[in-house]
Amino acid sequence: MKIITNLSELIEIRKNLSEPVGFVPTMGYLHEGHLSLVRQAKQDCNNVIVSIFVNPTQFGPNEDLNSYPRDLERDCSLLREVGTDVVWIPETNEMYPENFQTWVIVNNLTKPLEGARRPDHFRGVTTIVAKLFNAVQPNKAYFGQKDAQQAIVIKRMVKDLNYPIDIVVCPIVREPDGLAMSSRNTYLSEDERNAATVLYRGLNAAKDLFERGVHDADKIRTIVRKTIEAEPLAKLQYVSCADPHTLEELVGEFSQSLLSIAVFVGKTRLIDNIVLQKKN
Ligand code: PAF
Repeated sequence: MKIITNLSELIEIRKNLSEPVGFVPTMGYLHEGHLSLVRQAKQDCNNVIVSIFVNPTQFGPNEDLNSYPRDLERDCSLLREVGTDVVWIPETNEMYPENFQTWVIVNNLTKPLEGARRPDHFRGVTTIVAKLFNAVQPNKAYFGQKDAQQAIVIKRMVKDLNYPIDIVVCPIVREPDGLAMSSRNTYLSEDERNAATVLYRGLNAAKDLFERGVHDADKIRTIVRKTIEAEPLAKLQYVSCADPHTLEELVGEFSQSLLSIAVFVGKTRLIDNIVLQKKN
């Protein structure tokens, strides 16, 4: 496994890789969720490149850029175990040269949900992902369903900018008690970690209701809200039952939705989602 930092080195190595090349962009502090993406890429592709870059432009001023967990040594050993070919750890001054002023912005899809609570977050994500794509030139790129809106936004960007890249979205990987894996879970105290299962419980309560024939968007949002409000350490920021393509909030009866939530457990902000789909 090659570990590199320079952009010029990456470009040189990329020239000699046989295709298809799979790419997994990450911010490091890897867990099973990331590794599942690499494993999928290994299955699909001849070579797999993983990037590790804590991208400053996708963090808001009051967010956790400085405290975001980092452990490059552990990350590289995990990536070696799953058979990664190249790890690229870009340098901040190469990704954001002095006087940087060019952005990639996806409009409507970034307005609701995460975009409404984290202004400029998606501008940072799409800009860095576009830059990583330009350098890596992958045939396929892998993203987790955990960041459902991010995956939808990236797919739109790839279509709109004519990137010849197939975007593969892989399922959420959960802890045995249902908590979606996230690098931010490491912030939780023991009590908060136990309370954090409420996200999955809330989504599951809605899924049960939906499967029992209740297909009204308001009722679905209400059961999630009530489940989360019953947990004293949790504070719901939003629950959304939205069209999975446009991300517009649904009203009345629906047959398909992205049900997504953001919840503060103590000071840690966690997100999760499920897709609800009527069976024929
Ligand atoms: O999902 C992430 O970890 C980040 O948003 C990404 C895609 C690596 C861009 O920084």
